[in-house]
Amino acid sequence: MRNLDQDNITQAVIASFAGTADPRLKQILISLVQHLHAFAREVELTEDEWFKGVEFLTRCGHITDDKRQEFILLSDVLGLSMLTVAMNNHKPEGCTEATVFGPFYVKDAPQYELGADIANGAKGTPCQVRGTVRGTRGEAIAGATLDVWQSDDDGLYDVQHEALEQAQARGQLRADGEGRYHFRSIVAVPYAIPHDGPVGAMLQATGRHPWRPAHLHFMVKAPGYETLITHVFRQDSDYLDSDAVFGVRQSLVCDWAVQPDGSYLLAYDFVLNPAKAGGPA
Ligand code: BEZ
Ligand code: FE
Repeated sequence: MRNLDQDNITQAVIASFAGTADPRLKQILISLVQHLHAFAREVELTEDEWFKGVEFLTRCGHITDDKRQEFILLSDVLGLSMLTVAMNNHKPEGCTEATVFGPFYVKDAPQYELGADIANGAKGTPCQVRGTVRGTRGEAIAGATLDVWQSDDDGLYDVQHEALEQAQARGQLRADGEGRYHFRSIVAVPYAIPHDGPVGAMLQATGRHPWRPAHLHFMVKAPGYETLITHVFRQDSDYLDSDAVFGVRQSLVCDWAVQPDGSYLLAYDFVLNPAKAGGPA
């Protein structure tokens, strides 16, 4: 393997993976190399451009920490996250559709009783949220758990506030014996994804904005059903047709009704897909 040139280097790299024990890893690496090399050939990548790409990825690495995940953001704005969600969530008619997870989920969020105010001091207009969790045959899913998270009126998640000690506008709830849930929070507003780093610079260089339409995140889990990761969007929000991360699905857009006292009411029913036998929840 010497004197490789632009015509035979791809095959040489592919051959170098021949001894990969894990067949899936081998398939992914070979395909990745084929597509990467084809991309470089197609755009006739210069050495200077290659180095700029390396610098860009380095900046993504430097700005990433346990609160900021620039690589997920990059995947989101390139549509890779939503493509992966779309390919892996073919559900029967009637099931609630999935959308992007995003970088602001926090494991082990505070647990609340039904009816509690999960805003916990977050700035925003009060909003009641309620609905049911059911299966595809209409059966109530008693005790389903709902993880909920959202940004505040300033468009920031609690984890983006430097000095905040407690969780705000996020929590875990458990549906009652008839699959019903309800809680209080604040109304969602559109917000800009973090754009003070390399991904933001890329958006700016390409004339794209960093905004997401107003939404509330849910992760709904129950034994015997596929876990659902989704959002509910506000029908009257800006950016529904230009979401920076391509996550809007019409079935997830709904009316957040203004009440006589100026607060809001969001009613949304979830339908979970039964888990495949032997598959993950
Ligand atoms: C979110 O909705 O929390 C989100 C999704 C993708 C990128 C940034 C934020
Ligand atoms: Fe969000």
